Amino acid sequence: MLVLSFKRSQISAFCTAAVMASFLSACHASPQSAASDEQKGTVAKEALVHPNPESLGPVLDFRGTISGEPLDFNDGKGADSPAVQEFKRTGKNPYNLNENVIKNGYTLFSTACSGCHGHLAEGKLGPALADDYWTYPGNAYDKGFFETIYGGGQGMMGPQKGLISQDEILQIMSWIRSVYVGDPKKAKWKK
Ligand code: HEC
Repeated sequence: MLVLSFKRSQISAFCTAAVMASFLSACHASPQSAASDEQKGTVAKEALVHPNPESLGPVLDFRGTISGEPLDFNDGKGADSPAVQEFKRTGKNPYNLNENVIKNGYTLFSTACSGCHGHLAEGKLGPALADDYWTYPGNAYDKGFFETIYGGGQGMMGPQKGLISQDEILQIMSWIRSVYVGDPKKAKWKK
């Protein structure tokens, strides 16, 4: 026991000893806890979402960025997630700053958006989304950002409605906000 090498079996032996010594949290970092980490992710994701979105007031008026017409929310993607329900009442993305969601948002962005907007949203065929210049100034706010993504812009920027869910749009938005490189004073979604 005096010769310490860090083999997994010995680490778990150490953990068992540590549990006995009540150092519970140290052992939760062991490799066997991958599944519960996953669960923790889900818990954290829901934790930032309001438990009773209906109590936050009526649904706001969402309109197409180009058309100005009310957005049709029947996208065939099923019921709104709690985060979407909250967002439709507050206009603020409850997933902003949520590390677990942001990671997933990047995976979704990579498949649905990066081909046109660049891998880090730096711009390619479509404009940069990480800076503070917006063709449509409403995109500086989460509500306008969602309206453009869901309802589309001009030309190649087709509506994402029906292609990805509204919850996935919020996840993508949280990642894009997380890579913002513009003037902090123009980060209006933070207010
Ligand atoms: C087929 C290419 C293509 C894909 C895929 C695409 N976009 Fe676009 N996007 C464009 C183009 C081109 C524009 C410029 C259109 C305009 O100004 O109306 C644009 C504009 C935008 C704007 C407005 C930017 C501004 O300056 O106001 C946002 C926001 C946006 N896209 C987000 C996204 C997101 C998020 C995704 C993925 C879910 C996505 N786009 C997928 C091509 C694309």
